[in-house]
Amino acid sequence: MHSSSTGQPQSQSQPPSPSPSPSVTVIGLGPMGRAMAAAFLDRGYEVTLWNRTASRADDLVARGARFAPDVAEALAANEVAVLSLTDYAAMYEVLEPAAAALAGRVLVNLSSDTPEQARAAARWAAERGAVQLTGGVTVPPSGIGRPESSTFYSGPREVFDAHRPLLEAVTGRTDHRGEDPGTAALFYQIGMTMFWTSMLGYWQAVALARANGLTAAGILEHAADTANSLPGFFAFYAERIDAGRHDGDVDRLAMAMASVEHVLHTSAAAGVDTTLPAAVAALVRRGMDAGHAADSFSALADLMGSGAGA
Ligand SMILES: NC(=O)c1ccc[n+]([C@@H]2O[C@H](COP(=O)([O-])OP(=O)(O)OC[C@H]3O[C@@H](n4cnc5c(N)ncnc54)[C@H](OP(=O)(O)O)[C@@H]3O)[C@@H](O)[C@H]2O)c1
Repeated sequence: MHSSSTGQPQSQSQPPSPSPSPSVTVIGLGPMGRAMAAAFLDRGYEVTLWNRTASRADDLVARGARFAPDVAEALAANEVAVLSLTDYAAMYEVLEPAAAALAGRVLVNLSSDTPEQARAAARWAAERGAVQLTGGVTVPPSGIGRPESSTFYSGPREVFDAHRPLLEAVTGRTDHRGEDPGTAALFYQIGMTMFWTSMLGYWQAVALARANGLTAAGILEHAADTANSLPGFFAFYAERIDAGRHDGDVDRLAMAMASVEHVLHTSAAAGVDTTLPAAVAALVRRGMDAGHAADSFSALADLMGSGAGA
């Protein structure tokens, strides 16, 4: 029996030709775009890159990625371009000079911005023959390429389905939320609304702890326990809020008023910035003034939603 140079037995029939490597363009090499390009390289993709600051591509090029000389060439290289730019204004700045190269392209836009910006960009892309899939990545760079990480998508379902493996290289879980290109941005902003206020709450707690001689590490367990208790509250109140109920059977806004004033005064006494606790106290005060003292503090969700809190 003859064997090939690979040591494998030769058969009469032709060996199947190897399927071409999947390929993708990544535009925008901040921490997120760099992590995405690395995740594609890990999975054997042929990766074409472009970034305003070329040097950010150096280590990826050393791993086999190709840095395109301009945006038009980066777009021409592949059907799919993943965009990871600071915001949509940056996207226009980058893509507008190369607009002629957009026809027939799929833009997986993982840059964050408002739902309205995402809708306008989808229209802008369509006018130039491209299709946008809006994405909202829910993890930091360390979560990119991981099976448990998740991204919200919206836009044409058939485009999402056609590129599922590529999207799953970015985050293992992909959550298509409908055809409206704004929806993924909305889900992203809902998450960010909670993230920024929660993290600022944590910075406030750390500042208060440090002003009292404690350390961030010293309150870590307490902070984590407090944060971990929140999903139970969300579940309890979600059902009641959707049913239009703000019963004061478990908590009353008057209790919340007293409590948030304790928080405000504790920070003030420690010489810590009071901007955040004062804003919280002001919102609760408006609920009191609107006659909700005996209702649950969830009544604030209605008040804030109607704009009456402003
Ligand atoms: N970092 C996170 O943890 C995280 C998590 C989830 C989602 N996101 C979102 O993902 C996106 C990317 O995040 P990131 O942390 O990588 O963002 P970033 O640090 O802001 O970098 C994004 C890229 O945008 C480019 N850029 C910005 N303005 C530009 C302009 N006017 N012209 C050309 N290029 C421009 C930067 O180019 P240069 O390299 O030349 O400056 C950089 O490559 C953002 O929308 C962010 O909100 C971030």
